Amino acid sequence: MLTAKITGTGSALPAKILTNADLALMVDTSDEWITSRTGIKERRISADGEYTSTFAIEAARRALAMANVLPEDLDLIILGTVTPDFPFPSTACIIQNELGAHKAVAFDVSAACSGFIYGLSIADSFIRSGRSRKALVIGAEVLSRIVDWKDRNTCILFGDGAGAAIIEASGDQDGIRSTHIFSNGACWELLYQPGSGSRNPAANPATDPASFFIRMEGNEVYKHAVRGMEEAAMAALDANGINASDISLFIPHQANRRIIDAIAKRLDLGADKVFINLHRYGNTSSASIPIALDEANRNGRIKPGDLILLDAFGGGFTYGSALIRW
Ligand code: UT7
Repeated sequence: MLTAKITGTGSALPAKILTNADLALMVDTSDEWITSRTGIKERRISADGEYTSTFAIEAARRALAMANVLPEDLDLIILGTVTPDFPFPSTACIIQNELGAHKAVAFDVSAACSGFIYGLSIADSFIRSGRSRKALVIGAEVLSRIVDWKDRNTCILFGDGAGAAIIEASGDQDGIRSTHIFSNGACWELLYQPGSGSRNPAANPATDPASFFIRMEGNEVYKHAVRGMEEAAMAALDANGINASDISLFIPHQANRRIIDAIAKRLDLGADKVFINLHRYGNTSSASIPIALDEANRNGRIKPGDLILLDAFGGGFTYGSALIRW
């Protein structure tokens, strides 16, 4: 029986830091408001000439090096993103080319902040079914390019970056124990980018330029996020016949400190078991979980045998979890 095992992780972030104090000079906000409502202190912002693929490729190279896997041995590349380099071709194909991963089938997954978990779930299925042996799953975003820097409701939240993982077929019992992914299309209008698709094409002069920015009903998304992430986490625990107390480290999507605290409370998880880095990076959408996973891995927060629970929620709505025996 084949299982899928994470053998390498990597991440990459822009060098430029935008602090809450910087934002207070741009819109009517304050470090106190942003910190108390979100927990975010600063975020990374890409420079001219840096794209989603820039960070995705760097994160992928670091994950490949840790796993000791050559790009030409990859047979699958999945990128979760809502900020691809171009509407088409997929940014995954650009990454495939840059890495020299000639044998890999490559495609993007559009599942907003759940993009990495969706990708992980697909890679897990490919590996369990024998269709893939060495997969690269990435979450990468340059959200700063679709944020309205005049809208204090959204511009304080988001950041840029990428995280990646190498997933290999293994005969061990360790590895990905289960993934659960969900969609609730009834709520798509609560978090979306109105412009640049076929409904409001960029080339149409009638398209409102403001439609190219992220639009979000923050309060509503907040409530759904807490419920959805709890549901996804419980699905993982129930499917594996375990309790939250069995979890060594909980790595949730990094959108809002209050959302994470609410879920940890519902699951009865102590603060020492919850990984948080959103104070440094803000919400990096599909990149948030793989960046956190890489940091936890490299900083020794994850040890062999640990049970890791990943939990995501995003536009669509999409949500999901993955339980991993490290
Ligand atoms: O990653 C995918 C999922 N996304 C999320 O999970 C985001 C979920 N939502 C949230 O995290 C929160 O709803 C926000 C952080 C976006 C907003 O926090 P909130 O506690 O829901 O605030 P609010 O939207 O209810 O706004 C409260 C007040 C409003 O003023 P009034 O109408 O009460 O006078 C806002 O205009 O705070 C005001 N406000 C701000 N004030 C200072 C909104 N943004 C700011 C700001 N600085 N940046």
